[in-house]
Amino acid sequence: MASVSVTSVRSPIVAGNWKMFLDRRGAITLAQGIVSQVTDNNNVQLVLCPPSVYLDAVGNVIGITQAKPFGERVALGAQNMNAAANGAFTGEVAASMLRDVGCRYVIVGHSERRTLMGETDQVVAAKTLAAFAAGLVPIVCVGELLADRESGKTEEVVSAQVIGSLAGVSQANLETIVIAYEPVWAIGTGKVATPEQAQEVHRFIRNLLGKLSSNETAAKVRIQYGGSVKPDNAGSLAAQPDIDGALVGGASLKADDFLLIVKAFQS
Ligand code: 13P
Repeated sequence: MASVSVTSVRSPIVAGNWKMFLDRRGAITLAQGIVSQVTDNNNVQLVLCPPSVYLDAVGNVIGITQAKPFGERVALGAQNMNAAANGAFTGEVAASMLRDVGCRYVIVGHSERRTLMGETDQVVAAKTLAAFAAGLVPIVCVGELLADRESGKTEEVVSAQVIGSLAGVSQANLETIVIAYEPVWAIGTGKVATPEQAQEVHRFIRNLLGKLSSNETAAKVRIQYGGSVKPDNAGSLAAQPDIDGALVGGASLKADDFLLIVKAFQS
C-alpha cells in the first residue's frame, strides 16, 4: 500500500508537560520565562501544561482574558481530565472546566496514567471524545514498553492503542487531533529513541491513520515525539518528515531548554 504523502501542511507543536512538579511561584516564573522570549516569527505552536491547580495562574501569564479566551502562540493545556461532563466525581476535573480556564489542549492517555492509574484505551477514547465535545484539542499519547519493543511488538501495541484510543472520533475531529508517540522506555530515562526509530513509528502511525480515515486526513494530523527530548537531540528529531513536534517532560521545566527545543522545530 502506498504510504501517506508528507507534503506538509502541518505546523509544529511543542508542548511542555510539567507533570507534578513546581509550586505556584515556580510555575509563574517558568511561564514568564517562556512567554517573554517567544518571538513573533516563530511558526511553532507552544503549549504549556502545568498541574491543574496552576492552570489559572499560568493562563494569566499567557494573557488569557475574557476577551481573548485562548492563548495564540503560547496556549494552555491540561495534563488530564475526566470523561464525564460533570457529576459526583470527587477530585476530578471536567473538560468544560478546563475550557473555562482557557485551555485549548488536554493530554489524554499519558503512559503514566495508563500504567499508574490503569487507564485503558476505552477510558482514553471516552476522554478524547469528551475533550472534542467541550471544544478542546486532545493530545493522545501512545507508546510501547521496552518489553514490547524487544519482542518485536511495537507496531502491534501502538496500532491497538491508536485504534482503541481514537474509537468514535469523527473524520473532521481527527484532522485536528494531536498524537504523541512516547515510547515508555524513553520517558524520563535519558534513553531517547533514535531519530530513525521514532520516524519509523511516526510513519507507521500516519499510515494507520490513512487506513482509518483518508490519506488527506492523515497528512494533516500532527504527531509529536516524546521521551527524553532535550535541546541536543531535538534537531535530529525535528528533521524527520513525520515528527511534527515534541511532548517534553523534564526539559520543559527550564525555560531556556524548552525554547531551544521549540527553536529546533522552527522552520
Ligand atoms: P521526559 O521528557 O522527562 O522523558 O518526559 C516525557 C514525557 O512523558 C512527556 O509527556
